[in-house]
Amino acid sequence: MARRKKLYEGKAKILYEGPEPGTFVQYFKDDATAFNAEKKAVIDGKGVLNNRLSEYFMNGLASIGVPTHFIKRLNMREQLIRQVEIIPLEVVVRNIAAGTMSKRLGIAEGTALPRPIIEFYLKDDALGDPIVTEEHIIAFGWASQQDLDDMVALALRVNDFLSGVMLAVGIKLVDFKIEIGRIWENDFQRLIVADEISPDSCRLWDVETGRKLDKDVFRRDLGDLADAYTEVARRLGVLPSNVTHAVKPHVIN
Ligand code: TMP
Ligand code: ASP
Repeated sequence: MARRKKLYEGKAKILYEGPEPGTFVQYFKDDATAFNAEKKAVIDGKGVLNNRLSEYFMNGLASIGVPTHFIKRLNMREQLIRQVEIIPLEVVVRNIAAGTMSKRLGIAEGTALPRPIIEFYLKDDALGDPIVTEEHIIAFGWASQQDLDDMVALALRVNDFLSGVMLAVGIKLVDFKIEIGRIWENDFQRLIVADEISPDSCRLWDVETGRKLDKDVFRRDLGDLADAYTEVARRLGVLPSNVTHAVKPHVIN
């Protein structure tokens, strides 16, 4: 079969033309990057795990009525998704202080927040994805006030769902990032969850031990990233049968 046409290659995924209009094929690479790609490695098996985990979370969201771009998994590394117009914002929801919020505001990592806090970052690698306010978003036309209201509502539903799913397997959802896309149905537009939901885009801490089970393992050199993701997949019962052990990351720069 002829190879599909590559439309876009990002740091962790590739998008190919889909089999029908309005679809893409999303391929999960083994590449891991952090700090705007200053740190890079290839983690054997990461793409397979994230493909499965994103499928699991997107299907779960669909089952409670949260619309997503996911159509079906095609194979170990690829899934069929709906074509969307990505809103150029990363939507971060935080339940517990960590990462850049702790650094920026001096709130100790691990401090429970009184309510989920939503932040927006502009998707712009050249600028290092700066945090932006709703005022910036509206003034510069990245999204409308209605979009923002819909994005907040979607993000909170995703947070409630994911927090519950993770807690049921002994994992705290500290924070996560989603991307949201616009689809057109007749003359109406709708916002849906796009991109991926995986341990690359969440902070996940073991309830008992505090062990980190997300990309901070790579960012902070805390051990074997594939081991951590395998543990998440194992607990959720979505471990692919031929990914039984983690392989040491191979640092490529
Ligand atoms: P942060 O604390 O570094 O701002 O990250 C907040 C959450 O967003 C965390 O779960 C990791 C996720 N995230 C991404 O998915 N992509 C990114 O580029 C960054 C910076 C964070
Ligand atoms: N995904 C971003 C990067 O490569 C940052 C991160 O997740 O830490 O560079």
